[in-house]
Amino acid sequence: MDGVRVKGRVCVTGASGYLASWLVKRLLLSGYHVVGTVRDPANQRKLAHLWSLEGAKERLRLVRADLLEDGSFDDAIIGCQGVFHTASPVVKPSFDPKAEILEPAVKGTVNVLRSCKKNPSLRRVVLTSSSSTVRARDDFDFKTPLDESSWSSVQLCETLQIWYALSKTLAEKAAWEFCNENNIDLVTVLPSFVIGPSLPPDLCATASDVLALLKGETEQFERHGRMGYVHIDDVALCHILVYEQDAANGRHLCSSTVTDNNDLVSMLSARYPSLPIPKRFPQLDRPYYELNTSKITGLGFKFRPIEEMFDDCIKSLAEQGHLSLQTAPS
Ligand SMILES: NC(=O)c1ccc[n+]([C@@H]2O[C@H](COP(=O)([O-])OP(=O)(O)OC[C@H]3O[C@@H](n4cnc5c(N)ncnc54)[C@H](OP(=O)(O)O)[C@@H]3O)[C@@H](O)[C@H]2O)c1
Repeated sequence: MDGVRVKGRVCVTGASGYLASWLVKRLLLSGYHVVGTVRDPANQRKLAHLWSLEGAKERLRLVRADLLEDGSFDDAIIGCQGVFHTASPVVKPSFDPKAEILEPAVKGTVNVLRSCKKNPSLRRVVLTSSSSTVRARDDFDFKTPLDESSWSSVQLCETLQIWYALSKTLAEKAAWEFCNENNIDLVTVLPSFVIGPSLPPDLCATASDVLALLKGETEQFERHGRMGYVHIDDVALCHILVYEQDAANGRHLCSSTVTDNNDLVSMLSARYPSLPIPKRFPQLDRPYYELNTSKITGLGFKFRPIEEMFDDCIKSLAEQGHLSLQTAPS
């Protein structure tokens, strides 16, 4: 605890996930007591990385909770000043999008917020939303970067069957409605595609997609076309920034660089010539867009560049034995 100023108690839902693990790491490092929710606290293999974080033995508690069980988060949330709600399925539904992704995302968010409402210690809720709640629409002026006033079209998501974007859009809308009705202080963070080292032993869907690209597979990234990217540590730090700064309010896009997948693979191939990174992707008929992140940068945040996030990600994939790097980056 030397040099760490002890702060209040906060809850992180889905604590063992890719992004949440970094958030727990950063919260512990900055002195918070953290109550993390997980679906299976007895799963030592899945949770060992959390217990090895600095400060975990003294200030981390893991509690079982499931998004689909009413009242499941009550015990974890009671007594916490802050709640970071990150748990939400990041999966490609195989047969039933409603059950696999929409219900856990939307009903689960309201379930967590009901527990927040019962907690007299609550100061603020930070919801992990997604830039996909902003950009899944085809009716905007591409010359003006999209900002937090933009909402993805529910109808377009349904028509194109982009279930993840639909789940995040409906979940964030439900959160705003519930918090406005119940006078809960809510701020939301809208990360683009999160890149960086993975702390959990198994790669989540996002990290697996990046690994597939680095191994030469095109399928996962082909459908991205144009995409925003952000360093995982920056996402964790943004969550803490909007929690701590009283002036923060509303939605916050959290993204460093928007780029086409062809420009992405050019950059990666030049830095990592030994990797079999695909050379070109077919051009998709999708609207060009940029993201306006001046709201979060106006709070003093500075994003790391795209090269650094991929360097950190590739280094950790190699260290974890997922990837072999024959030569160092040029
Ligand atoms: N990765 C990205 O590029 C990205 C970009 C923007 C936003 N986000 C958002 O960031 C958050 C975390 O995503 P991630 O990429 O870190 O994915 P992840 O590693 O798959 O984490 C998802 C978390 O949600 C939990 N979860 C899923 N269904 C649940 C249920 N029914 N009850 C309780 N917990 C449940 C998972 O728990 P288990 O470990 O038990 O499965 C896991 O901890 C999500 O809200 C996601 O939408 C991610």
